[in-house]
Amino acid sequence: MARITAGVGSSHVPLLGVAADTGKDADSYFGPIFEGYEWTRAWEREEKPDVVILVYNDHASAFDMKIIPTFAIGCGERYMPADEGWGPRAVPPVLGHPDLAWHIAQSLILDEFDMTIINEMEVDHGLTVPLTMMFGKPEAWPAKVIPLAVNVVTYPPPSGNRCWALGEAIARAVASFPEDLNVQIWGTGGMSHQLQSPRAGLINREWDNRFIDSLIGEGQEARQISHIEYLRETGTEGIEMVMWLVMRGALGARTRALHRHYHVPCSNTAIGHLVLLPDNGEQPGTDDDRALATT
Ligand code: DHB
Ligand code: FE
Repeated sequence: MARITAGVGSSHVPLLGVAADTGKDADSYFGPIFEGYEWTRAWEREEKPDVVILVYNDHASAFDMKIIPTFAIGCGERYMPADEGWGPRAVPPVLGHPDLAWHIAQSLILDEFDMTIINEMEVDHGLTVPLTMMFGKPEAWPAKVIPLAVNVVTYPPPSGNRCWALGEAIARAVASFPEDLNVQIWGTGGMSHQLQSPRAGLINREWDNRFIDSLIGEGQEARQISHIEYLRETGTEGIEMVMWLVMRGALGARTRALHRHYHVPCSNTAIGHLVLLPDNGEQPGTDDDRALATT
């Protein structure tokens, strides 16, 4: 049986892809950002997920105003990095897992989530930057990836509650796939950021950290955060954080944090990162029983 073994939250700031691709990831500006992901890169080498369900948003690379799917799932064999204006990133192609993806699509749609199915598309920084942060610079990405795109670019995005419920439905879908697969779910985007207009550069450290706190343990209050609260408190692009709620919803009633990282500045934004396990009440003393490493 396939199992969701962990959840990862991460910002996806495009400048981090540029920094990694041009060898600036250890300099004085980017060093502290990338260092906060070192723990996770080592952990991922041990965990060896077979598949990552990568919840992200497209930034007018695959979709534009002609078509705006609220929730879309990639069922294709492979996805090439998009050209976002400075040429496609020189990172490996992203290989899909069509069998699991079609299974999830069927399960979600029969579970009354009306997914858009994508067989061909290019993927932008929203998807490739988290791969770089978690896996570094391998010749080939070490896991298959199922892109799960959420519209957070054009109003109206889905509610946080709907995103959480989608995560719960994804967990049901994965648990009904007969093959033994180690599946992770990543929620990307955020933290607080506003890229244009008079409040450009807005960062709300306190709110961001409260949001991260709220995903650990059994609280579900983050489901009820309104669009207007994201906008007021975290800027126009802070709404990307609803994608972390898909990840959180997929982890079940209770979670436990293995690692977190928060840093300002990164480009115009704050970056945040969190590694969560579903907490099924196992006794301490297992391999997973590591102290929460915070940077
Ligand atoms: C930037 C763009 C993003 O899509 C994002 O989520 C964060 C930052 C940027 O251009 O700085
Ligand atoms: Fe973004």
